[in-house]
Amino acid sequence: MNKRYRKTIIAGNWKMNMLSSEVKPFIEQLKENMTKSKTCDVVLCTPAVMIPAMVKAGKELKIAAGGQDVSKFEKGAYTGEISAAQLLDAGAKYCIVGHSERRQYHGEDDMLINAKAKVLLEKGICPIICVGESLEQREMDLTMEYVAYQVKAALNGIDASQVRRCVIAYEPIWAIGTGKTATAEQAEEVCEGIRAVIRRIYGARVARTVSILYGGSMNAKNAAELLAQPDIDGGLIGGASLKPADFATIVKATAEE
Ligand code: PGA
Repeated sequence: MNKRYRKTIIAGNWKMNMLSSEVKPFIEQLKENMTKSKTCDVVLCTPAVMIPAMVKAGKELKIAAGGQDVSKFEKGAYTGEISAAQLLDAGAKYCIVGHSERRQYHGEDDMLINAKAKVLLEKGICPIICVGESLEQREMDLTMEYVAYQVKAALNGIDASQVRRCVIAYEPIWAIGTGKTATAEQAEEVCEGIRAVIRRIYGARVARTVSILYGGSMNAKNAAELLAQPDIDGGLIGGASLKPADFATIVKATAEE
């Protein structure tokens, strides 16, 4: 329903894995398993130092390079940080913000994530904004309330023309890297809820254009069923994005929607 209004996106999240020298061999292996996708945009979010290598190696398959985090500051004395301008300079088209690992290990809060999304938009980089509940929150039946809050906070002050360039990734924390995937029904329920939040703020015409991804142990086996859901417009994939054959299978699963 209405999927034609938005992009399907398969984004890999390499986290702190791989080396620049491994980018080209990875793409070569990917080429053995897939051709340039006509059904989705393919993105690989690598550690920032590998972005130029990804831009170069990914051209033929039309794979876009993405970052995994950005500083909320524009430039200056912020040792260890990377700015949106620097990501753009390296060739990034997308950048993840608010991943649960950043929230958990680096104390990132919703206000900071909102600021990061804004600096990316200013530079024309699409933010992939991650939201998702913990197992405790799910068990206490707080999932939708919490995720709705995260989405509203992340989009605070972002206008309708800019929100169309934002991607939301629903990643239940209990499903990340655990091998426990949300069922297609659970994932769809929350993704549909996220779209309803966007609809309430920006209206139906905007809400139907925003791509909402599912992430959390998405793999070659379960991708097709998840991607077939009406409000799931793609995936944010960790573990399986490190395996070329599996990642290619997930990309190809978008053709079956
Ligand atoms: P996973 O990671 O696919 O390994 O669960 C997803 C993510 O953290 O984005």
